[in-house]
Amino acid sequence: MHDFIERHVIWLIVLTLIAVSFGGMVELLPLIFNQHKTPAIETLKPYSAVALEGRDIYIREGCTVCHTQMVRTLRDETARYGHYSVAGEDVYEHPFLWGSKRTGPDLARVGGRYSDDWHRAHLADPRSVVPVSNMPSYRWLFDATLTGEHTAAKMRALSTLGVPYTEADIEGAAAAVRGVPEAEALIIYLQSLGRDMQRYSVQGGMQSGVQSQ
Ligand code: HEC
Repeated sequence: MHDFIERHVIWLIVLTLIAVSFGGMVELLPLIFNQHKTPAIETLKPYSAVALEGRDIYIREGCTVCHTQMVRTLRDETARYGHYSVAGEDVYEHPFLWGSKRTGPDLARVGGRYSDDWHRAHLADPRSVVPVSNMPSYRWLFDATLTGEHTAAKMRALSTLGVPYTEADIEGAAAAVRGVPEAEALIIYLQSLGRDMQRYSVQGGMQSGVQSQ
């Protein structure tokens, strides 16, 4: 049988494809059917209205092109960034921003690592704080302000995907966001990254033995 398959290339290809697709299905199908059952870590909170707008600026400006938001389980990564990423902290991420390209560092745990002033200086002129940086400057974010026009609609859309925003959150959204400079909203978003996980680790939620920040 083995001899026959190895001598007949077409059979070899067809049977290999069947074996690989079966293996793929075993790995993928449970994830597809269980995706709504991934439990959120207990400390997970939805983004505030301003942080949510900050996140949209992050997406709009293409920060994801150079920055990932997923700490892998490797020793060098957990030593540098903190606890590796877990599924339960991304339950409210639509779309997720894990990324795959690290021109700059991973940002999943950047919240609280620097002061707001550091971020202001860094966004306006990255080389003023990190001389060798090749990150572009984002000066215009300091002039543009948010209107809050679509914030409530975005939150409503997210709540249909299971993000637990309350009516009060949604009604107060436009007022909370209106007039906030885009740079400030982005910084509020950056400062929120990894905080739920920090609180979770402090409560002893993760029993992995990996030191978190
Ligand atoms: C062309 C690639 C590139 C793009 C696009 C980019 N960055 Fe960066 N970023 C870098 C590099 C390289 C560094 C490391 C040097 C430094 O700190 O400036 C960095 C560093 C950072 C840091 C500090 C991280 C740390 O742990 O020290 C933050 C925060 C950051 N970037 C946020 C952003 C945001 C927000 C955007 C979008 C508005 C963005 N970056 C867009 C390349 C990029």
